[in-house]
Amino acid sequence: MTIEDYKSIIRPMMGERRYNHCVNVSAEAVRLAEKYGADVEKAAIAGILHDITKEVDFEKQLQIIQSGDIILTDVEKKAKKLWHAISGSVYIQKELNIFDEDIINAIRYHTTARAGMSLLEKVIFLADFTSAERDYPDVDVIRAKTEISLEEGMLYGIRFTLNKLLSIDGCLSIDAVEAYNEILLNR
Ligand SMILES: [Fe+2]
Ligand SMILES: [Fe+2]
Repeated sequence: MTIEDYKSIIRPMMGERRYNHCVNVSAEAVRLAEKYGADVEKAAIAGILHDITKEVDFEKQLQIIQSGDIILTDVEKKAKKLWHAISGSVYIQKELNIFDEDIINAIRYHTTARAGMSLLEKVIFLADFTSAERDYPDVDVIRAKTEISLEEGMLYGIRFTLNKLLSIDGCLSIDAVEAYNEILLNR
């Protein structure tokens, strides 16, 4: 399947705003993959599909997650915003027959990050933060850090997410904390 095929698959699954976001994330993922030496085609695919189940209702997402034999941790159960990354990674296997481990993991960890991420996983995580339509206050800072290195961008992005969670009494994802520690320990 081509990127155009994947675009027509996701288009009816989400509103126009999110669709444009997915197109932009795919484009940014391609740019970062070229810059940092990740697989450009996989970056385009993972980028366009990363939010494929974001507008699927939560009950259906839980079914998808269960169909992938994934047991959610207590933190994951509580953080419904994380579900689409997990359900998306199962959906692409079951419905689109995508079995590339790297694409699956890039979607699975695009929200939390994790320790030991591949180049592609980092590219998708950062493309989601820096895609063209993003306009949150610090977006220019994370774009600049991402130009320096994937790790500097990741550090900023993960810290941004952790700070937000801390400020709202949100549980921290262990994966995010481990990703954060790993970057600092290897800096
Ligand atoms: Fe997402
Ligand atoms: Fe996204």
